[in-house]
Amino acid sequence: MEQSDKLNAKHCLVVMSGKGGVGKTTVAVNLAQSLSLLGKKTGLLDVDLHGPNIAKMLGIESRRMQISESGIIPVEVNRNLKAVSIALSGNNPDQPIIWRGPAKSTVIRQFLEEVQWGALDYLIIDSPPGTGDEPLSVCQMAPRLDGVIIVTTPQDVAVLDARKSVLFAREIKVPVAGIIENMSGFVCPHCRKDLDIFKKGEGRKAAEDLNVPFLGSVPFCAEFVDSADRGIPFAMSSGETAGSEPFMKIVEGIRKFTGDA
Ligand SMILES: Nc1ncnc2c1ncn2[C@@H]1O[C@H](COP(=O)(O)OP(=O)(O)OP(=O)(O)O)[C@@H](O)[C@H]1O
Ligand SMILES: [Mg+2]
Repeated sequence: MEQSDKLNAKHCLVVMSGKGGVGKTTVAVNLAQSLSLLGKKTGLLDVDLHGPNIAKMLGIESRRMQISESGIIPVEVNRNLKAVSIALSGNNPDQPIIWRGPAKSTVIRQFLEEVQWGALDYLIIDSPPGTGDEPLSVCQMAPRLDGVIIVTTPQDVAVLDARKSVLFAREIKVPVAGIIENMSGFVCPHCRKDLDIFKKGEGRKAAEDLNVPFLGSVPFCAEFVDSADRGIPFAMSSGETAGSEPFMKIVEGIRKFTGDA
């Protein structure tokens, strides 16, 4: 498919998961923020229309996208990072959006075709959990999709659903950039010891079984919750949280996958 005039991105990646609450938005926001800090022109697109969270995690909930004759103007987060989300459209954030599939596809198409991003190195797309309308629409409509990043937690149920995401990607012929195991172990904020409260290594095992790359593990880290709630992605506080270093390795792995490193 040809790239539209408005979407001119060298690389495009979709973050998805089989299960809710495993850390997709955390990964998408921190990946986008990290790439922008590395000087990459980055767009962050939120296609989670029912539970849009990127604005909150970036601390830009009060900002608004503008609609001009030539399209949607994204919110500029920093000089290399722009964001688009239904949460930046001015709708009441407490009001649930009640839309069926076709209406959602229309919005997603507009987000993919009518946003004036300017030239991007990366477009990172955050999706809602599962293999429903939104990830399907994105994967079918996004031009030049490099691949999907699948986030899981170490528990069996989540890994089982991550497998489904891999099979979904295969079914629709989109490459898998890799699996990330999030909330993998817990780093005690007091003694910095790595405590194994959940299992560990199930994400890696699933990646090996399914023959897809394993991008890395991020520990459960109490500071992440705080940084997300305060709207300061932990990628901004490099070195200060237990997850920063593992996350940087993941970013490296993703850049290798896209041929950008
Ligand atoms: N490694 C981690 N350590 C501690 N907290 C985390 C970690 N990763 C994510 N969280 C927290 O867990 C919660 C859920 O994360 P997030 O919103 O990124 O998940 P999600 O997969 O996008 O959820 P949804 O399916 O609802 O979109 C957030 O409060 C986030 O700050
Ligand atoms: Mg989310």
